[in-house]
Amino acid sequence: MKIAILPGDGIGTEIVAEAVKVLKVLDLPFEMETAPVGGAAYEAAGHPLPDSTLALAKAADAVLFGAVGDWKYDTLERRLRPEQAILGLRKELGLFANFRPAICYPELTHASSLKPELVAGLDILIIRELTGDIYFGQPRGRRTAVDGHFPGSEEAFDTMRYSRPEIERIAHVAFQAARKRNRKVTSVDKANVLETFQFWKDVVTEVHAQYPDVELEHMYVDNAAMQLVKAPKKFDVVVTGNMFGDILSDEAAMLTGSIGMLPSASLNAANQGLYEPSHGSAPDIAGKGIANPLATILSAAMMLKFSLNQPEAAARIEAAVQSVLSQGLRTADIYSEGTRKVSTREMGDAVVAALTGATMTKTIKG
Ligand code: IPM
Ligand code: MG
Repeated sequence: MKIAILPGDGIGTEIVAEAVKVLKVLDLPFEMETAPVGGAAYEAAGHPLPDSTLALAKAADAVLFGAVGDWKYDTLERRLRPEQAILGLRKELGLFANFRPAICYPELTHASSLKPELVAGLDILIIRELTGDIYFGQPRGRRTAVDGHFPGSEEAFDTMRYSRPEIERIAHVAFQAARKRNRKVTSVDKANVLETFQFWKDVVTEVHAQYPDVELEHMYVDNAAMQLVKAPKKFDVVVTGNMFGDILSDEAAMLTGSIGMLPSASLNAANQGLYEPSHGSAPDIAGKGIANPLATILSAAMMLKFSLNQPEAAARIEAAVQSVLSQGLRTADIYSEGTRKVSTREMGDAVVAALTGATMTKTIKG
């Protein structure tokens, strides 16, 4: 098995180094190969997603991705900006199903901006369609308006679109995921205004006929944004389009206290996947050694479970993360009085220690 390691920019390199350390200590039969991506690749090869990096990602069973982006690239033409690397990987690998769990760890309930009773025990899963919608719809561009409120003026436009198979396959992913959880799916749309999302709602309803054991509710995206901060625990699986999912998954992440804790998985039809923390490259804290590596370490656990068929190793990593939290170790983003503030590297070392400790106990018990 082969894992492509793409650290990227900003804190990406620091957090991926910790996840690689954790993967190495598992002593499993896989190979890891590192390649530049994002701004780092632009500097090295003149393109955010060089052919060699794309080829490595395609040939690998899974990709562990850090983060891309830095303000200094904001003035580059769009096709050369770091974000194009992640969009290009999603498109080229066909990673249409994006899993973004929002879990509130008991030790971190206080870190949420919501009242503790609203988030204690929170465990929801946002499933975002990742290769369609207005993100990839054509045509798009700038032109001179021929109609509208200001004919003859300069305008910009994008295209929102979904085909039936695109909606069907993400709906199946959501219903199947719900079967492993609390059997409830909330499909988020804007069917009251948009043709694309009336179609989305119709197709999701049709697919639901094959899953009578799963409850389906439909919710408009504005209401979903409100319900997420009003009563987040009422959700189980949320399935939605690319753009609404982008926005709602950031909102859901914040319910848990720190986006620094949240992993994500993006899968294609062959279960090949790209695994990355839900947060970005955070150039403001890059190089300071204070970033939280746990989201990336937990992404590595998701990778072991979904793409590499190593559920036991994944469970061991999750238990090790739980253990370092119980020990009171905290990076700056989740620190509170009475806990011990640690650096990125110390956090990675603590997970490794918990993991090797756990291995030893297991061995002793036989
Ligand atoms: C995300 C990010 C990306 C997106 C950007 C970096 C292109 O916000 O993964 O949520 O909008 O999908
Ligand atoms: Mg986003």
